[in-house]
Amino acid sequence: MTRWFAPGRINLVGEHTDYNDGFVLPMALPMGCSAEVRAADSGWTVVSRQEADPVTVEATGLADRVDVPGWASYVLGALWLLHDDGVDVPPLRIEVDSDVPTGAGLSSSAALVCSVAGALDDHLGLGLGPDGLLDLSRRVENDAVGAPTGGMDQLASLRGEAGHALFCDMRDLTSRPVPFDPASSGLVLLVADTRAPHRHSDGEYGARRSGCERAAGLLGVRALRDVTTDDLDDALARLDDEELRRYVRHVVTEDDRVLSVVRLLDEGRLPDVGPALTASHASMRDDFRITVPEVDTAVEALLDAGALGARMTGGGFGGCVIGLVPERDAGAAGDAVRAAFADAGFGEPDVFTAAAEAGARPA
Ligand code: GLA
Repeated sequence: MTRWFAPGRINLVGEHTDYNDGFVLPMALPMGCSAEVRAADSGWTVVSRQEADPVTVEATGLADRVDVPGWASYVLGALWLLHDDGVDVPPLRIEVDSDVPTGAGLSSSAALVCSVAGALDDHLGLGLGPDGLLDLSRRVENDAVGAPTGGMDQLASLRGEAGHALFCDMRDLTSRPVPFDPASSGLVLLVADTRAPHRHSDGEYGARRSGCERAAGLLGVRALRDVTTDDLDDALARLDDEELRRYVRHVVTEDDRVLSVVRLLDEGRLPDVGPALTASHASMRDDFRITVPEVDTAVEALLDAGALGARMTGGGFGGCVIGLVPERDAGAAGDAVRAAFADAGFGEPDVFTAAAEAGARPA
């Protein structure tokens, strides 16, 4: 039997920049998924502590991608791809157990995929190595499950380091840990899970991605990462479509915000990153248009309660908000979010603090 653990993630800044070959700054969370892989007599069975029914693929083997419930496709997806890659996958039983809330923008799916990929690599002696694990995990989500995501989540889950955020260049997939320890500055990273149901998130995500690709094509660049802040006005003037202009403005300024936050963290100026986080939220709300009233309300409440900066994290249309808050104000800030939600008639949010932890590992 082999067991691996892989964490969920929070993205500190750099939203919807990953599929534009840009920059992101996520960190791995303490919460995550553990996956146990063991030999079985026949077939391939996946069991989740969070799901009522196990899923077994027997008669069809791994050659046919049978219709399975969404969560199971993240596990079986790895087996399908390994089979396609020519690996002779023996009968297996895979059990997963996760404490990452689903639909909260904390990458429960990356935690699931990366824990399964790590455990399979070990159990089958595949020798994938760090780059191979990243490649397999990304392909599970993009090719097997069919979600057009950009790869940041798997990278953060695999390479996260305790006490650090991970500065990633999503063009060449290089990354470097950057110190991120709010406690050493008397701060906490507060997370408010709005529990807002994701609305149209799949179609809207794909629409943003294809809009960005269309804009890059019209501007004659490989990806929007290649438009700099100096080029921005000129690029905007060359686009007729107001929606595409807003997308370009978001991505170009967001890449720049990642670079400025990394610079500040490298200089040991963590308390100074707040304004860039808040500006990122405004850009997601006004230009990229991926926020919903619940997340805007949570951000406003955190800022009113003394947060140095606050923003939605993750793909959008619901999910979590993060705020950088002086430790002494953390309780009051949580109360402020809950009160604002009650006033607005929203359901109760879940508010907690988060620290950066290590990435995927044998458990
Ligand atoms: C989701 C995707 C990531 C990334 C973010 C937005 O989490 O899985 O690849 O695009 O949205 O930054």
